[in-house]
Amino acid sequence: MMTFEQFMEHYKQEIERCMAQAIVATDSEQKLEQSMIYSLEAGGKRIRPLLVLATLVAFGSKPELGYQTAAAMEMIHTYSLIHDDLPAMDNDDYRRGKLTNHKVYGDATAILAGDALLTKAFELIVMDDQLDATVKVELIQLFAKSAGADGMVGGQQADILGENQKLTLEELESIHRRKTGALLTASVLSGAMIAGASKQEQDILREFSHHIGIAFQICDDILDVIGDSEKMGKKTGSDIDLQKSTYPALLSLEGAKKALAEHTEKAEQALASLDIDATYLLGLTELIAVREF
Ligand code: IPE
Ligand code: IPE
Ligand code: MG
Ligand code: MG
Ligand code: MG
Repeated sequence: MMTFEQFMEHYKQEIERCMAQAIVATDSEQKLEQSMIYSLEAGGKRIRPLLVLATLVAFGSKPELGYQTAAAMEMIHTYSLIHDDLPAMDNDDYRRGKLTNHKVYGDATAILAGDALLTKAFELIVMDDQLDATVKVELIQLFAKSAGADGMVGGQQADILGENQKLTLEELESIHRRKTGALLTASVLSGAMIAGASKQEQDILREFSHHIGIAFQICDDILDVIGDSEKMGKKTGSDIDLQKSTYPALLSLEGAKKALAEHTEKAEQALASLDIDATYLLGLTELIAVREF
């Protein structure tokens, strides 16, 4: 078995290869495709697609079965970032160490590139000849629900409505669960579905994902306050500028760190209750939540 580092290195490359195969720009006139490729190739930690593959491995399945699904998830995530950075949303100039999509291609193309990445994701799942139709329908349902009004997009809307407002911790957790947690949960559950995990196992994985989802956004919020923008490839201080409700804003930095530790512990407890090889899932959990601030 590969070490966690080997797993990360090898499968990151495979995911990037799958995405590169799915969108090709042969002609310099293809501005839309170029802008899609620009954001996909800008880098990123690839946490979500790696969660898909790590879950497959945990249940003893071949990671190759999840390549298209993993690439589809990373496309949905990348689309969400392109739109999140737009002037009408967070108005950010840097992402993944490069200029944001709209800074290079203009707002209209950035909006369209996001739209096209979202739809391409569903095309990838439908065209996957390794999976049978029943699983594909389940995956499409899962991704559609997690990305849409009940998930990421709904969370983004709530996040914007929460600007300049003092939210309760429950309201903030509900935003985090949707805007960030939903896609992380869908990543884990998609791997579980492809691997044929039972309903009970999926319920425990949902619990695990819920906690890593919140932990992930708490980390992102903490880093927005004290992180190194050079290392993260995006500007810090955005949340304060936009008066966003965040864990550090609500609970102070110390309170946010405590909440992070609590969610991480609950995530690890959920994993421990499953009879699986959780090596890579634990590695990803650490990467997400166990940080030196
Ligand atoms: C950033 O996600 C947006 C959030 C949901 C907090 P990531 O931190 O996974 O961004 P990349 O993909 O590594 O750039
Ligand atoms: C964005 O949250 C979550 C998405 C659904 C894209 P943020 O607005 O905090 O993400 P960053 O900090 O810009 O990456
Ligand atoms: Mg945002
Ligand atoms: Mg943002
Ligand atoms: Mg942020």
